[in-house]
Amino acid sequence: MRKNIVAGNWKMNTTLQEGVKLATEVNEALKSRTPNCDVIIGVPFTHLASVKAVIGDNLGLSAENCADHEKGAYTGEVSAAMVASTGAKYVILGHSERRQYYGETSEILKVKVEMAFANGLTPIFCIGEVLEERENGTYFDVVKSQIEDALFGFSAEDFGKIVLAYEPVWAIGTGKTATADQAEEIHAFIRNTIAEKYGKEVAENTSILYGGSCKPSNAKELFAKPNVDGGLIGGAALDAESFMGIVDAF
Ligand code: PGA
Repeated sequence: MRKNIVAGNWKMNTTLQEGVKLATEVNEALKSRTPNCDVIIGVPFTHLASVKAVIGDNLGLSAENCADHEKGAYTGEVSAAMVASTGAKYVILGHSERRQYYGETSEILKVKVEMAFANGLTPIFCIGEVLEERENGTYFDVVKSQIEDALFGFSAEDFGKIVLAYEPVWAIGTGKTATADQAEEIHAFIRNTIAEKYGKEVAENTSILYGGSCKPSNAKELFAKPNVDGGLIGGAALDAESFMGIVDAF
């Protein structure tokens, strides 16, 4: 069966020292719990190795991006192999901020997913519509295309390794959360889309996280929905107590 997952996405926040402190706090808080979900923190590249050194095996580590090339003359880029060499096991790909500000297209993302697979990293692949697409009702098509274009070229076996994160862009960092019913509607649609392509078993085994202003006060209601398998958490992951409050929602 699919896993429940709560993953933090720190984005471009915390210095190295602040990040190590936060990771230490999350790690300590986890020690006194037996969570009903996998817990992951997604941290800046600069923090990966130092964070890995202060966390235990029960706390997963993720990068927030990786390059779409294997290695070589790509000044400033960080490869999937480099990420994996820090001990990180996950990589967040296709976040709406990467799509919007750094021009990441489905073609680029497909290559990044290949790079992740080639280096044993689990992609946490983000999809989601902007406000206009929500309001004009095209969000089903938008989300379907994002999945189809970047991911449906992979074998069922490879697709089965991907964690999906549905993040409506209008809910990210805005304080406006999708209602639990809105999340369930689109998550069920996503699962159905996967089932049509890869069959029911693959679809049932795919973890689909919700992201967008998820916090301790709304996580329980969201996670109670049958097709919501956890959360990708931005702002609320920057404080160990609020992050653990979301973990405790399971
Ligand atoms: P948020 O961000 O929780 O701050 O809305 C979520 C995300 O972008 O992953």
